[in-house]
Amino acid sequence: MSASNSNDKDGRTTNLRSRAWFDNLANVDMTALYLERYLNYGLSLDELRSGKPIIGLAQTGSDLSPCNRHHLVLAERVREGIRDAGGICIEFPVHPIQETGKRPTAALDRNLSYLGLVETLYGYPLDGVVLTIGCDKTVPAALMAAATVNIPAIALSVGPMLNGWHKGERTGSGTIVWKARELLAKGEIDDAGFIELVASSAPSTGYCNTMGTATTMNSLTEALGMSLPGSAAIPAPYRDRQEVAYRSGKRIVDMVHEDLKPSDIMTREAFLNAIVVNSAIGGSTNAPIHIAAIARLTGVDLSLADWQEYGHHVPLLVNLQPAGEYLGEDYYHAGGVPAVVAQLMRKGLIREEAMTANGTTIGDNCRKITIEDQRVIRPIDDPLRPDAGFMVMGGNLFDAAIMKTSVISEDFRSRYLSNPDDPNAFEGSAVVFDGPEDYHAHIDDPALDITTDTIMFMRGCGPIGYPGSAEVVNMRAPAYLIRDGVHALPCIGDGRQSGTSGSPSILNVAPEAAAGGNLALLRNGDRVRVDLAKGRVDMLVAEEEITARRRQLEADGGYRYPESQTPWQAIQRALVGQMDTGAILEGSERFQRIAQTMGIPRDSH
Ligand code: FES
Ligand code: MG
Repeated sequence: MSASNSNDKDGRTTNLRSRAWFDNLANVDMTALYLERYLNYGLSLDELRSGKPIIGLAQTGSDLSPCNRHHLVLAERVREGIRDAGGICIEFPVHPIQETGKRPTAALDRNLSYLGLVETLYGYPLDGVVLTIGCDKTVPAALMAAATVNIPAIALSVGPMLNGWHKGERTGSGTIVWKARELLAKGEIDDAGFIELVASSAPSTGYCNTMGTATTMNSLTEALGMSLPGSAAIPAPYRDRQEVAYRSGKRIVDMVHEDLKPSDIMTREAFLNAIVVNSAIGGSTNAPIHIAAIARLTGVDLSLADWQEYGHHVPLLVNLQPAGEYLGEDYYHAGGVPAVVAQLMRKGLIREEAMTANGTTIGDNCRKITIEDQRVIRPIDDPLRPDAGFMVMGGNLFDAAIMKTSVISEDFRSRYLSNPDDPNAFEGSAVVFDGPEDYHAHIDDPALDITTDTIMFMRGCGPIGYPGSAEVVNMRAPAYLIRDGVHALPCIGDGRQSGTSGSPSILNVAPEAAAGGNLALLRNGDRVRVDLAKGRVDMLVAEEEITARRRQLEADGGYRYPESQTPWQAIQRALVGQMDTGAILEGSERFQRIAQTMGIPRDSH
């Protein structure tokens, strides 16, 4: 199979990879074997040998995956689009990743789902694929697989839920949980009230309606060019969502004929656009991990330093919870991703020539789009705040970590960042938790003596330690401090933080304690200095003492973490890298563009 398509006089592709299965007369007995079983549910010989592209519909929706479940309904429109454009649809299931349902963490399953999808896309007669995305990790898993195999692919978001409401106020996914925890800690609601308040944030089918990891990653998929322009923000139940499902189905057939592949779309320019858009939307701290993973598997050179260089000085334009006030429906009505991109273009912040799934550049797609509601999307000359991107941190506790500065509240700033001689730095006394169980058991214990001078640390929660890396770094203050009006203490850790949390934690620490990071050496009472101007976090412990502690830890057999409970946990732990480089299975980036570089797999019999 050649790397580029040849087309007949009508522009139809003549060397589709599916023909190696269904139309290989040099090997008629295998062709018969491949054909007969796809005939058994009613596809006809005419269809399978028509030379029409066979389009996979990678189905991530199921009863186990409520965020993506609406894709079961949208699939009908996708199929009609594929049919109308002259393709044949073959739908198949993708390993589920439900952020709120999977224990010990859905993050464990991103690489597993990726592996499964790579095998499916490569090992079956598929010429192109519609990737059904939605819930957090379903997005990177799909894009990582599309990048690796590199057959034409278009992403279709399921869309966010409708806005949540409670007593006349918007209640947003995840973000309301943090508020409810505080109300419960203060004794203002009981258990039933807690559940009622949290459930109000989920009024319909779809994914989290806040600017959490799902809205972030679906927006960045559009910014990367992998979905149709204007499609990311459409709420799941809206009729527009059905229509864009149809158009995505139609479009993928043309993409196969044009041979427009993920490697043509996901270039370094496209990734830099994604970084810029992430800052402007107030995107999730999970984005750098997933974007790094996709870039590595695409073969694009991208580092955490690019987030600081290209993202930090971009202003915050989108007023969505947790950084702001509004929710997913409002984001759509205000213009969604194209309205944000059009504003960024005015300051030259977008690489306009980047190609997108509709065959047009992002510049041409977005140039004329206007903001429809300036309360929700701000003009670039009147942003919500400047410098909304992440800060990349280092120091003697870790090599890399990030901090989302756009969620630093006035309260936090006045408490920690108001020393006129040193306005960007503060010191505190460490209180260290080894995993969320340790934290939950002791947070309200007065013996720990947590005060406003405390910096709380969470460790043992990275890709190896947890395993999978958990969203546990953002910790609420003890109840006795919340009652005194202290809402957030500084938090630092080797886990992640929910994209729906409004806490300015320093997280995604690499290397994690379980991978030999110095975080494992930190003890309660150690003084720690955080310097945002220098981008450093340092434990103020003498070098000899650090060396002695390391020797002791090694003599004790290293940092302890829970043992693996499933085969996959053990496999992932043995192969996974750290979060600053995407937490992919190390070695998997060698398998790039396999549809072009590895040919067709050998016959099965
Ligand atoms: Fe699925 Fe938030 S839990 S998108
Ligand atoms: Mg989460």
